[in-house]
Amino acid sequence: MQLKQALTSAIARLKADDVPSPRMNAELLLMFTLNCDRSYLYAHPERELTTDEQNQYGRALAERARGVPAQYITGHQEFWGMDLIVSPAVLIPRPETEHVIESVVELAGAQGAGGRVRPPDTSHLRIVDVGTGSGCIALALAQELPPAEIHATDISTPALEVARANAARYQLESRIQFHQADLLEGFENSSFDFIVSNPPYVGESEEDQVQLEVRKFEPRNAVFAGPTGLEVIARLIPRAHAALRPGGWLVMEISGTISEEVRRLLRDWNDVRIRPDLQSIPRVAQARR
Ligand SMILES: C[S@@+](CC[C@H](N)C(=O)[O-])C[C@H]1O[C@@H](n2cnc3c(N)ncnc32)[C@H](O)[C@@H]1O
Repeated sequence: MQLKQALTSAIARLKADDVPSPRMNAELLLMFTLNCDRSYLYAHPERELTTDEQNQYGRALAERARGVPAQYITGHQEFWGMDLIVSPAVLIPRPETEHVIESVVELAGAQGAGGRVRPPDTSHLRIVDVGTGSGCIALALAQELPPAEIHATDISTPALEVARANAARYQLESRIQFHQADLLEGFENSSFDFIVSNPPYVGESEEDQVQLEVRKFEPRNAVFAGPTGLEVIARLIPRAHAALRPGGWLVMEISGTISEEVRRLLRDWNDVRIRPDLQSIPRVAQARR
């Protein structure tokens, strides 16, 4: 079978199975099967697929048709310009989480620069990423803020294995220390400059509004916090207060549904601000101890 025929029939199949963006998915899975980029697909429409390639493409399409996210099939997701490994043990990094990185980099710059023109000195910073999952936040901060001391925690051992693999992929193993822990367990009185987190924040009561693919295939303890969605954040806020130095920042990803409750939980903190994402949804809560 020729490449262009394989692509056309894959698009038709995904469409029939109600997979969103069928062309994009068919192309992505063919690029994954042939280990090539998009321009190759269109430069070589008559290239014959081997039987192995046809079988592998068929298996990938069948997985996608039953709802498995493309990222779990290819094992990759782009975040902050990095190509990260993902598996069903971790949440697929989302573009809106990049706002968390932007907020921390901005606050770290403002803090380090002290109004001077030269680049901020961020070398003294101590940062912890709580619930690191794939490691996306810890890795992005390690790249943006060298040579800050970075720790990352997660309650899930399989998630930490993925995060460690990603750190190794970008030669950041020596920059980030990974810890299996419940939130900030073991870090009480640590005097961190930044505590950063994209915690689980969806409520079980909103489960029917969550995409089926997320509910069925992403780790439940990465998405759902408990009945209301606030449960993990409500535990994290007092623990973060204890683990930050005076003047240190807590920066968390949140959702519009819980933003007012989060503001209330942060009422005793200073400089509380909730920043919107590109869709104007309240997305990043930042507060200073
Ligand atoms: C929403 S995911 C975020 C993953 C990654 N930081 C990101 O932004 O894509 C939340 C992560 O928190 C972890 N987690 C859930 N409860 C936790 C707890 N009590 N202590 C530490 N980590 C927890 C989950 O295993 C999951 O990896």
